[in-house]
Amino acid sequence: MDNRPIGFFDSGLGGLTCIPYLMEALPLERIVYFGDTARTPYGSKAVRTIRNFSFEITDFLATENVKLIVIACNTVSATCLTELRERHPDIPILGIISPAARAVAHSCGADNHIGIIGTKATVQSGAYRNKILKYNPALDICETPCPTFVPLIEEGIIQNEIMDLSIRYYLDHFIAYNQIDTLVLGCTHYPLIRKNITKIYPGLSIVDPSEEVLVSIVQTLKEGNLCAEAAEGEHTFYASDLSENFVEMINRIFRNTGFTVTFKNLEDIA
Ligand code: DGL
Repeated sequence: MDNRPIGFFDSGLGGLTCIPYLMEALPLERIVYFGDTARTPYGSKAVRTIRNFSFEITDFLATENVKLIVIACNTVSATCLTELRERHPDIPILGIISPAARAVAHSCGADNHIGIIGTKATVQSGAYRNKILKYNPALDICETPCPTFVPLIEEGIIQNEIMDLSIRYYLDHFIAYNQIDTLVLGCTHYPLIRKNITKIYPGLSIVDPSEEVLVSIVQTLKEGNLCAEAAEGEHTFYASDLSENFVEMINRIFRNTGFTVTFKNLEDIA
């Protein structure tokens, strides 16, 4: 048993989409979340830059005495998970791509047409394609980057025709031409526009890695005897630039849960 917190890390507020799944399944666990809101988006930056930012933030989470780090960011998972694990060999570090790739490979067959959407860095890495094909080489996979989604979501422009136009701009042709029937939301920000996507393309089956990663979290905690036995202290949310939208979204997640939440602005990382 281990009552230390679980560290979560994303370029901004996207990784928050993992939190409700965790809270429902493991209500005794405590969270230390870091959103690098001052430097988001990561997905259009060079891999070297993404890696340097990720080193800084995982180093910071390590100082928070976390028992596990969840990289709640597809871009970081796709580009530097191995280096992060080498840098912190004493802390289990989970990426978000493998659990989702496993779920896709198990639920789809050769008749399906799978579409992966993500940031430029995630799509360029080929991480989803490679992992899914490792589990099932017969699957048909197409990928496309959607670089305006993250900045719009960080600005809170979601239930809005600008977001819908942006979705249509990237996905109308992609989905029709490739006859996509299964869409993987390969960026943790995208579950926040899931309703927009299903409204525009109602027949699609959606895979949400923010939900799938829970399987790996539970497994790692159980195998390492790391589950919390008592709910202690509060959940802490750090941001490199504490935006109104970030605070509002967290307050929405925790409303009526009885949990206490602390916000901290960490300017010195930015
Ligand atoms: N939520 C991050 C991801 O899953 C967004 C990356 C970005 O900041 O561009 O990839």
